[in-house]
Amino acid sequence: MDFLQSATGLALGLFMWVHMFFVATILLGKDAMWTVARMFEGYFIFGRPVYGLVSALVATIATLFVVHAALALRKFPANYRQYRTYRDHMKEMKHEDTTLWYWQVVTGFALFFLASVHLYIMLTRPDRIGPFESADRVWSDLMWPLYLVLLFAVEFHGGVGLYRLALKWGWFEGDGRDAAGTRRKLRIFKWALTGFFLVLGLLTLAAYMKIGSDHAPFYGQHYVPAAPSPRG
Ligand code: HEM
Repeated sequence: MDFLQSATGLALGLFMWVHMFFVATILLGKDAMWTVARMFEGYFIFGRPVYGLVSALVATIATLFVVHAALALRKFPANYRQYRTYRDHMKEMKHEDTTLWYWQVVTGFALFFLASVHLYIMLTRPDRIGPFESADRVWSDLMWPLYLVLLFAVEFHGGVGLYRLALKWGWFEGDGRDAAGTRRKLRIFKWALTGFFLVLGLLTLAAYMKIGSDHAPFYGQHYVPAAPSPRG
């Protein structure tokens, strides 16, 4: 079960890196984000959007998410006494990795609720992904407060998760002679990565909010790229 939790965690963590870069293409311009969204719909292969492809991808990610969350429940404090013991232990030890684990549980708990809202919308409305469509959802449908909290929760949880995986399975340990040094380097890399994705995510969210507030009078209108698409 630990292996399965690690494997689903790794898959979700790597997915989030890719996902953030695709969502952030709005920073390269509306046409760039339009092209990426159409790509996932098979538009450039079938000549028309196949929304079922996106729903199938979301269903796959949602399944990984539910399996990972169910397995992670085994690690949650089973009662208030265990929770108190951990909190007291954490305060006494002031050991960074012990404190990180506590916030891993808190952010994991938050993701149960926040990510589910997002995943359900993506599963049921794959036809509303695009520069205007996403911006309308972020601004006029008031998804930005949820995305803001979700962004911090998922970047923190994913970053700590991948760091703990590397420690747990001994990746990057080399000959193991300088385990403390490896741990220190991994921790710096983890915080740098989390910082990078938070900045990218905040800039991206600000971009969708700006486009959404400008587009509010035309809410629901689909984006049409300036240049005609290769299929006319
Ligand atoms: C295949 C599944 C997924 C798809 C297709 C997807 C798609 C998208 C799209 C199109 C946006 C842009 C805003 C919008 O249109 O509403 C977005 C934003 C976001 N998604 Fe996802 N998402 C998926 C899974 C996830 C998961 C599992 C998480 C976290 C657990 C997540 C976290 C976020 C966050 C935090 C944002 C806001 C990004 C920002 O602007 O900083 N997404 N997603």
